[in-house]
Amino acid sequence: MINDLWYKNALIYCINVESFMDTNGDGCGDFEGLMRRLDYLAGLGVTCIWLLPFYPSPRRDDGYDITDYYGVDPRYGTSGDFVEFMNQARERGIRVIVDLVINHTSIDHPWFRHARSDPKSKYRDWYVWSKKRPRNWNKGMVFPGVQKSTWSWDSEARAYYFHRFYDFQPDLNTMNPDVRAEIKRIIGYWLELGVSGFRVDALPFVISEKGPHTGSPPPQDFEFLRELRLFLQWRQGDAVFLAEANVLPDQDLEYFGDNDDRVQLMFNFFVNQNLFYALASGDVRPLTNALKKTRQRPITAQWAHFLRNNDELDLGRLTEEQRRCVFEAFGPDKKMQLYGRGIRRRLAPMLNDDRRRLEVANSLMFTLPGTPVIRYGDEIGMGDDLRLQERQCARTPMQWSTEPHAGFTTAEKPVLPVIDEPIYGFQRVNAADQKRDPESLLNWTERMIRARKECPEIGWGEWKTLATGSPHVIAIRYDWRDNAFIAVHNLDSKPHRIRIDVASSGRTSLINLLSSDHSEGGDDGVHRLAIEGYGYRWYRVGGLDYILNRRRS
Ligand code: GLC
Ligand code: CA
Repeated sequence: MINDLWYKNALIYCINVESFMDTNGDGCGDFEGLMRRLDYLAGLGVTCIWLLPFYPSPRRDDGYDITDYYGVDPRYGTSGDFVEFMNQARERGIRVIVDLVINHTSIDHPWFRHARSDPKSKYRDWYVWSKKRPRNWNKGMVFPGVQKSTWSWDSEARAYYFHRFYDFQPDLNTMNPDVRAEIKRIIGYWLELGVSGFRVDALPFVISEKGPHTGSPPPQDFEFLRELRLFLQWRQGDAVFLAEANVLPDQDLEYFGDNDDRVQLMFNFFVNQNLFYALASGDVRPLTNALKKTRQRPITAQWAHFLRNNDELDLGRLTEEQRRCVFEAFGPDKKMQLYGRGIRRRLAPMLNDDRRRLEVANSLMFTLPGTPVIRYGDEIGMGDDLRLQERQCARTPMQWSTEPHAGFTTAEKPVLPVIDEPIYGFQRVNAADQKRDPESLLNWTERMIRARKECPEIGWGEWKTLATGSPHVIAIRYDWRDNAFIAVHNLDSKPHRIRIDVASSGRTSLINLLSSDHSEGGDDGVHRLAIEGYGYRWYRVGGLDYILNRRRS
């Protein structure tokens, strides 16, 4: 019954409720607005929505600083609205996963307030304290440059508290059994409300030992992760964890587990960074290498691939020289860069709004071994507003139409300014206009998503890269149940002639799934292809347009 693994061929779409659609005119997106846009998402082909944090929060870190895990921030609606939204999503066959932010709370969370004000409170040990300033107080910051320390003095508690992220995000002591029990309650709560799983925020830190004496890197407790997974699936068999874990390939299996017992899905940050290097340099070899290095995973596990997300494009895993190359190409200006390691821009401006490059980047992402994740607005090529602080620049409201504030709100002042400038402004970039134009990026994306869904080999199959004879062209072949699919991408601006071995001998044909430009191979089983600059091809091997002999499980 392995077909039951819904996430193997899902299309995940990431939404921040706050900036998607406002219906009550207060300038802030809400669940009612999201509900009204569900048909748009269904039309695009989205099968799973990932909601960024929408819980009560002072939102000093866009909701990643929670004050109540069991509710909806009143700005977005009520718990009743959430349940209505879940019902409407289910009606359209769309699953929902939500952010699980359990590494830290907001400094305003009642737990922390009790903890700091009363040393005898049961919540004291829910956080991480030190009487003396630990020696490593200025080490291990996640937001270097902006964040100055990982230990801050609390005058009320008369002690230092630990925070891996900003100082208003005290770390939970996840080694405390009561905290662990509470985390399970949170998971259990949202499962009862119908979610299909969780994007697990900052997972490596969640399972790390915390405290003044732990070394760097601190020891990690993967048994705890197993415990969470067990609980998750005991409560709901098809629920998943999608982990945010920007780790090196040799750690991947620790997160996936080897017995279908840890996370089912992980964002592939390693491939993501090498993909941007490939886009910047036109050289696909490090990307091929990164794919191979992250090949290993248990059969039920899956990679999640993406281009951009809600954070900066983190380039920390590249070599010095590679990073310099990506900075030069996509973020030459200091104000485009962030935390000394990344670029905070959206995809379209990085690629200079060049349609051919946007297509080849997205097409490549859709055909990587795993499940694609799209960030809201990237399907219409939205831009960024570099006047906004840190990562806010790429979190501006969705651009729906040419109405004031892009039809996002009728308020005078939206939560964040809507982009209004000649190239990426809502007058030129918006969903309504693009819906009417068959050649728009939106309609192109919709067609690609449809095609992607008809290629289950990508989500399920065995894959290998094929030699192309060119450092600029990557070809990946998937095999699954007697069907095969080949994706070819040229990341160079110039055309290239390549040859790929499709069979060891004998004539084969490659059916082009995106145009009628099919390919007939030679008697030697080799196909000789001419690919234009930034060109891409999706082929099915053999004479069949569709998978006809797809066996039942
Ligand atoms: C993750 C989120 C990021 C947030 C951080 C702290 O990295 O993606 O936006 O600031 O966790 O929760
Ligand atoms: Ca509103």
